[in-house]
Amino acid sequence: MRKIILDVDTGTDDATAIILAALSKDIDLIGVTTVWGNREIDITTKHTLMVTELIDRDIPVYKGCSGPMVRHLYRDLPPEKAELPEPFDEKGPVAYHGDFNLPEPKRVAEDIDAVTYLIKTLRTTKEKITLVPVGPLTNIALALIIAPDIVENIEEIVIMGGGMTQSNATTVGESNIVNDPEAAQIVNLANVKKTWVTLDATHTASLPAEYIEFCKNLHTTIGDFFADMLVERIRVYNKMQPLFVKDIAPIHDALCIAYLIDPSVLDDLRHVHLDICLDRGPGIGAFLIDNRHFSLKPNAYVAYSGDRDKFGQIVMDVLKNSQ
Ligand code: BDR
Ligand code: CA
Repeated sequence: MRKIILDVDTGTDDATAIILAALSKDIDLIGVTTVWGNREIDITTKHTLMVTELIDRDIPVYKGCSGPMVRHLYRDLPPEKAELPEPFDEKGPVAYHGDFNLPEPKRVAEDIDAVTYLIKTLRTTKEKITLVPVGPLTNIALALIIAPDIVENIEEIVIMGGGMTQSNATTVGESNIVNDPEAAQIVNLANVKKTWVTLDATHTASLPAEYIEFCKNLHTTIGDFFADMLVERIRVYNKMQPLFVKDIAPIHDALCIAYLIDPSVLDDLRHVHLDICLDRGPGIGAFLIDNRHFSLKPNAYVAYSGDRDKFGQIVMDVLKNSQ
């Protein structure tokens, strides 16, 4: 069993990552840290607590950073660029990650913050831990700045972020990276194995509407939650970010967990030299990959594609076996 800490900005796909990690027999989810991103930190933390109560798992939740490291201080970029993606429809940016239709959480977050928890845990653990950040990388970057020694106990960092031919926040940027590009570059420069699950992978592994029926037929609260999440995500993607075909939706963050269960779900994983653009302009947060045949020394594993059928099968197996 792989020990992991999930770092989330709980929205709908973060929720599915928490559920899969908690229910999978291959993963020991020892803690969840929350970060700003899809929504502000109090909401992402509340959503995370709601999900841990939905699956009835007493997984500790640690509240983290409420904003980016420095991105919001720029004066030379239009302020709206530092905000959540532009309103896409009447519900605005929360359309993607609206308020969860779950009971108010009874539990509260732990009394130490996310960054302190990451440093304490990584300094005292007896076995290596995999970090799985699926939101802006602010918590992880600050932990690496305060305690660079923690890389010794990190097995791998599996990040949902970036994109080569796919983007969603700016013309060339993906939301988690564009939200805190400096944090992403700090993680990118860390001397530890990093696997980037990009939009090129999550979009190709998008799940079709057929999976809604399967989830409903489980007749469980978790299955119903998954079904509702898929309905909402397909609605939003059809309306605001139509992909290759209608009635499909990427479940970005869950693909990181699927990779931990079966790495072959990332069916085009390349070892490349990655740099993250920090130029102050339209390219900020873009993935700069050295495509020369005499490229710079590879420093990252980057997923260029995801196997949709394998991904769907992994998700359904975990949900079925958790009954
Ligand atoms: C990423 O941004 C967020 O909206 C999702 O939760 C995911 O982590 C996709 O670009
Ligand atoms: Ca996320």
